[in-house]
Amino acid sequence: MSSSALAFAKQNHPRFLAELKDLLRIPSISTLPEHSEDCRKAAETVKAELKRIGLEHARLIEGGHGPDAHPLVYADWLHAAGKPTVLIYGHYDVQPPDPLDEWHTPPFEPTERNGNIYARGAVDDKGQVWAQIKALESLMAANKALPVNVRVIFEGEEEVGGETIANYVASKPGDLKADFALVSDTELFAPGLPTLCVGLRGMIYTELEVRGAKTDLHSGIYGGAAPNPFVALCQIIAKLKDENGHILIPGFYDDVQAPSADELKAWKSLPFDEEEYRKTEVGSKVLVGEPGLSVMERTWARPTVDVHGMPGGFTGAGAKTVIPAKATAKVSMRLVPNMTPAKAFQLYKSYVEKIKPVGVDIDVRLIHSGDACLIPTDNKYVKAATKALHEVWGKDTVFIRSGGSIPIVGDFDKHLGLPSVMMGFGLPDDNLHAPNEKFNLKNFELGIDSLIRFLEEVGR
Ligand code: BES
Ligand code: MN
Ligand code: MN
Repeated sequence: MSSSALAFAKQNHPRFLAELKDLLRIPSISTLPEHSEDCRKAAETVKAELKRIGLEHARLIEGGHGPDAHPLVYADWLHAAGKPTVLIYGHYDVQPPDPLDEWHTPPFEPTERNGNIYARGAVDDKGQVWAQIKALESLMAANKALPVNVRVIFEGEEEVGGETIANYVASKPGDLKADFALVSDTELFAPGLPTLCVGLRGMIYTELEVRGAKTDLHSGIYGGAAPNPFVALCQIIAKLKDENGHILIPGFYDDVQAPSADELKAWKSLPFDEEEYRKTEVGSKVLVGEPGLSVMERTWARPTVDVHGMPGGFTGAGAKTVIPAKATAKVSMRLVPNMTPAKAFQLYKSYVEKIKPVGVDIDVRLIHSGDACLIPTDNKYVKAATKALHEVWGKDTVFIRSGGSIPIVGDFDKHLGLPSVMMGFGLPDDNLHAPNEKFNLKNFELGIDSLIRFLEEVGR
């Protein structure tokens, strides 16, 4: 395995890392309106870099509405006549960093420690976006050309549902004409084990708002007679799932597609120790969920419900005796292949309205949603990927699914007819969305090499 692009990447690694740190210093938190300008700054930084390394038509694409609308970044290089066109995807936005006091070093001051770089967005997804860009730079610098035609589309709303890119892909499919998509926003199954992700869960993210009395009330004077919206909300939530992790919404499982026998067999042979996973990754006393199903089946192939927070009422230090007038809960559901967000939301909404306790009103709001996806593996792009990964990592590739969601991947198939190759380099313990997010520096380096070799292979 030798190419001048690989040599260029090796030589320039310290600079690549320094540049990544600059990108990580920009707090591009897509869900917080006060960080809108930071999102734009991250977009501009990425755009300028695509231009600098020799891509053409680098531009920002606007199009979203509201406070969490952030621009897309586009660039292309379409001079590899007769070669396939790849659509390269990643996201420059990040999740909020809280709780801040659990970070060992500040989230937007990237810090190297024991072979990792720690920062919000290190692995999800700025580190991987930068690996893609640096692979392109290395190929371009070494050959004055790319081995394939390239279109790059990065978004800044992945963590808030990806409305702008979804609209763009649906309304201007011709702008992103390609033969396949390359998505770097996933993980290796285990350290050192080359992995392609072939399935993602979809989701609906919702808000429940329960209202009782017309105003906040003294809980001594009115308690016992006035409805308490938090209690009502908890009663509703308690009826969403039973103690076996089974969702109680009628009809919710009707469309669930079971994994194939081949897939289940492949999952059984993955190097996985449930007890180790419980202790080191989850850190709970026991694992919960549907009995008789493996962790992989539960997290990759079954729908689930989670509650993320319950804003409202009194949450300060100490005690305040109040019956709040309203209570809210952020509730999401992960969906699996063949379920649709629209139907899942309808079933959930009708059920919640039916089980709502007397004395309160409820609003069930959909914040965002995305389809699950399951990707074909019998194509030449996947073959090129496994060949490249074998050269770089010295091992056969494992095919896994992931329980996470990347809403646009389903749309690449639906609207653009593209198969995706999900080649990501995170690790299971990289603390995505949590304090002390990190990206392993070796994976950053081998990730760049893998992407270089993959694109070279596709262009052969
Ligand atoms: N990169 C993740 C999804 C992911 C994580 C895929 C791990 C594979 C392995 C992505 O940035 C993410 O967090 N997506 C959100 C989606 C959303 C808010 C619509 C998610 O899954 O919660
Ligand atoms: Mn991501
Ligand atoms: Mn994420």
